[in-house]
Amino acid sequence: MNEASRMHEGVRLDYVPVADYSDAIHRLEMERLWPRVWQVACREQEVPEPGDYLNYEIGEESILVVRQQDGSIRAFYNVCPHRGRRLRDDARGSLKAIVCGYHAWSFRLDGTVDAIPAREDWEGCPAVSDADLSLTPVQCDSWAGWVWINMDPDAPSLRDYLGPIPERLDAFEWEHCRIRSHQTLIFPVNWKVAIEAFVEPYHVVGTHPQLLRWGHGKARGTLEYLKSGFIHAGHSGERNYHFDEDAEFNDPREYLYTTIHNTYHQLHGLYHDEGLRAAERMMKEVPAGLSLQETSARYAAMRREEVIKAGARWPEDLTGEHLRNIEWLLFPNSSVLTSPEGAFWYRARPNGNHIDSCIFEVIVLGRYAPGKEPLVVYERYDDLADFKGCNGILEQDFSNLLAVQKGIRSRGFKAARPNPVQETQVANFHRVLHGFIHGDDNWAEG
Ligand code: FES
Ligand SMILES: [Fe+2]
Repeated sequence: MNEASRMHEGVRLDYVPVADYSDAIHRLEMERLWPRVWQVACREQEVPEPGDYLNYEIGEESILVVRQQDGSIRAFYNVCPHRGRRLRDDARGSLKAIVCGYHAWSFRLDGTVDAIPAREDWEGCPAVSDADLSLTPVQCDSWAGWVWINMDPDAPSLRDYLGPIPERLDAFEWEHCRIRSHQTLIFPVNWKVAIEAFVEPYHVVGTHPQLLRWGHGKARGTLEYLKSGFIHAGHSGERNYHFDEDAEFNDPREYLYTTIHNTYHQLHGLYHDEGLRAAERMMKEVPAGLSLQETSARYAAMRREEVIKAGARWPEDLTGEHLRNIEWLLFPNSSVLTSPEGAFWYRARPNGNHIDSCIFEVIVLGRYAPGKEPLVVYERYDDLADFKGCNGILEQDFSNLLAVQKGIRSRGFKAARPNPVQETQVANFHRVLHGFIHGDDNWAEG
């Protein structure tokens, strides 16, 4: 089958056509996905004061997210309406007015024209009103402390796009979280290869065997196709962990402590200082002989106490249901591991217009007492080799990416065959992608 005829091949829970990684689909994503979908641009905290801006790049587009005088946030294409110079070349900063470096046209923070040198020279020309010469806005809204943008002026609202997601995740109160760490890596792989490595639990046995040392952690991806009012929009799946009854550990305290300690020191997220302190308390204060469930409940109470003791706000509305569903894929490109102490947020996107290069970010959110929020340090790794020693667990994940990228380019690889129980999010992801690029659900029968 040639590439063109494969393009409309359907996705099944156990089948993803390899054409989804092709040049043709890359072009269609640039044309029909990225310009139409809501995507996270930055955290609200990254533009705290009026005049603060952040330059969000997606494909060949560059979008300025700007904090306004009245505290609201707006977004504009980062391009001067005069001769098309990019207005800001840097990733972030602060300014009083947006001034173009080429001929000094200047714009207010709300994008309206402020001053144009020798403006009288245009006298008598058509379409030279302030409105004609202002910056072109991009839709912009906030949810969960993230600033979201959408380039499509006719796109549904962010609330409609997210559909049932806020109802399921608002209890984490991420709007009160702040960035704990922010890492950007440049991978020579297609952006989908990168995000797909972080949406399923099936790889743990092969990639992170050390995490299963204390029992046969059996993970299930639950197929939950959350469809919002806008067809093919807000979308997620979730991951539940079911530990086998006959798990190979005797003392649940030791199991929990080892898991927490390893996650804290190897992943650097999900369990933070308070969670680790609570684990140390659990070892001393919780008696032996309790079930895993009872021990976990005691630990959870101590973790809450430690967070509150540190002066941070605890998300009181979290339920067991929230804590069981630890992984969410927010289409198109956020994969979120949830935690009562914050979140582990992955984001992948194409690097410029390159099909096989992507920008991958690991943004860890934490809870802090007011005034104790850490300064954001932006780490960047252009070469994966430079990340060595930074994160024991992620390095294991990353080691797969380059190899998968090579594999999907092989003539011998016809389609991905995801596990229809544990890798449902991979298939779901492609299903929604097909919705954007082909305009229908294209969910193959059978
Ligand atoms: S291109 Fe911006 S002022 Fe000329
Ligand atoms: Fe992993």
